[in-house]
This record gives sequence, C-alpha cells and structure tokens, in this order.
Amino acid sequence: MNIKLQKSCYFVVFFITISMLTAAAELPGISILATGGTIAGSGVSATGSAYKAAVNPVDKVIAAVPEVNNIARIRGDQICNISSQDMKPEYWLKLAARINQLFRLDLADGVVITHGTDTMEETAYFLNLTVAYDKPVVLTGSMRPGSALSADGAMNLYNAVAVASAREARNKGVLVVMNDRIYSARGVRKCDTINPAAFNDRENGPIGRVNYGKVSFNNRSDKKHTYQSLLKLPFFAGNLPEVPIVYGYAGINPQMVETICKSGIRGLVYAGVGNGNPSEEVLNVLAKASADGITVVRATRVPDGPVTLDAEVDDAKFGFIVADSLTPQKARILLMLALHKNFARADIQQFFFDY
Ligand code: DGL
Repeated sequence: MNIKLQKSCYFVVFFITISMLTAAAELPGISILATGGTIAGSGVSATGSAYKAAVNPVDKVIAAVPEVNNIARIRGDQICNISSQDMKPEYWLKLAARINQLFRLDLADGVVITHGTDTMEETAYFLNLTVAYDKPVVLTGSMRPGSALSADGAMNLYNAVAVASAREARNKGVLVVMNDRIYSARGVRKCDTINPAAFNDRENGPIGRVNYGKVSFNNRSDKKHTYQSLLKLPFFAGNLPEVPIVYGYAGINPQMVETICKSGIRGLVYAGVGNGNPSEEVLNVLAKASADGITVVRATRVPDGPVTLDAEVDDAKFGFIVADSLTPQKARILLMLALHKNFARADIQQFFFDY
C-alpha cells in the first residue's frame, strides 16, 4: 500500500478513535449503588418460582446489562447485599450520605440504586426527604431473578440509567423506575406481590414512561409536594428514633397499644380503619400518649384516599397529626426524621401536607 494511502488510513483510525473517546467522555457519569434484592438474585430454573435474592455483587449485576455503557459512564458501588425485607435505617443513612457526597464532590451526574422491591418505596421516600441535590436519583429492581424466563431486571436497570441520565429528570425528587414507568417517591407503592407490573401510584399515577431507554415525563410531575425538605441530614446523622406502626382492626386490644406507648417511644403511627379511625378504647390510649408527649400520627390501612383532619376524630383536641396521603410506612419515615430534628407538632403536620 503506498505511503500516502497508509497515512490516510492512520488518520481515519485516529479520527474515529478520538471521536469515540470524546463521545464517551460526554456521556453522563452514573453511579450505580447496589443494595441487593431480586435484581441481584438467582433461581434454580428458568421456569421455577424458587430463587434467592441478593446473591450477585454489583459488578455482576452491571455486567449482565452491558448496554448501559452505551448511554452512560457507569461506576458501581456495593452499599449492602440484602433482601429488602432486611432494609433498615442504618442503610438508608449510608445511602443518603453516599449520594450527597457524590453530588457534593461532583462525582456523578445521577445515581441509580438497585434495590429489593419489598421496601423500595420506603428507601425512595427516605432519600426524597434527605438528599440535598436536584440531580436524578432513581431506584429500580426486579420481580424476577435474571435466571428466569422474561426476567425484568435488565430492562429495568437500563431504563433506570436512561432516566438518571436525562436532564428532564432533574428537580423531580427521587424516582422509581419499574416496568417502563416512572414514579415519584411520595406516591409510589408496591401493589402486587408477584407480578412484574407490581408498582403504582394509586393517587396520581406514573409521572412518566421510559420505553427502551426513551424517557418522557407527563404533566403529572407533582408540584404540590416538594423534595426540598427541611429534613436533610448531616453526613453523620446519628441514630434515628424508633417509630412503631400499629395496624388497626376490629376488636384490637387497647392494652397492647398501651404497652407499645409505654416502651419509651417518641412517636407512633396508627394505621386506622377508614379515615384513620381508632376504636374508642384505643383513642383513649392514644390521647393519653399524646398528652404524655408522644407524637401520634393517624394514617390508614385503606389503600386509597387521604386521612383528613378533624373528621370523626377531634385531632385538635388530642394533638394528633394526620398522614394526609402518605401510607403508614412512609408516614413513619417522615415522623422519624422530624422527631430526630426536634420539629414541633404544628411543623410536622405541615410536612405531611408538603413533603
Ligand atoms: N426479598 C424481596 C426483596 O428483596 C424480593 C423482591 C424483589 O426484590 O423483587 O425485596
């Protein structure tokens, strides 16, 4: 091959290489923080329901979806490797501290958290209250392990990276991406025990879709609830207070509730029947607890509709707080943080309407 042609080939190869490197450098930097769950799980057969969650490390979870490297510069961190029924506030604090550090030091343009689906909604809401930056934080997981037929984890992870990489995902608070849908942290909940379409926001619906990585938000991005909360935490936040949830039902034993109230707690969420209603006997126990300084939040076991102030219960008289549209498990998270930061009841009640 003559010298001139050879030089031209070298130049073309050089130009293509530089272009590819430049394009790669322009991709957003996404940190994937792994916590375990089914998306890191493995089963014994492709058609059997038996599997073990949280067996694969973050590198293996990411390696299973090499396509994510086409849309972002990926970095993986293992926060923990657990089934999310074992999730707890110490891991939430670790996640919040890591995310705030990544954004404070400008080490990531967005964060994806791989997580079990059982408590994903709780981790999402905790982070929605405690992450102090407007860059995207997206949680995802899977309902089937990667070893199953039509496993959902790979596309969920790819879509979550696509959302975390999208500029329009900023300023929307923490998000959950599952089954091609984008949900806000406040309203999302697991609504099905086994189906890949397990998540929904029964009050507002999804705020967007992601289809093969193509992201689109609808006009439901919830302006009413801010994620710029006053509940941000310092890097070393210390232990959060224990806040139990008591589930209401016909014939509930008031002595059981009284025992819980006398166990040294600072706050309690009561998941009442109907509009957050306790029985008369339990009402008397909760009223005394409130008078003794325990912050009582009335939530509901009913899947739809808010708990409203001063309906059948005279909240003003007893000093109770209502959970509005927050589920009992999310009401607990907000109350834990508000008590940890020693806010007054009137402020806490407003947080339930705003956050
Ligand atoms: N043990 C459940 C969890 O880790 C598995 C459910 C899932 O991740 O889909 O939440």
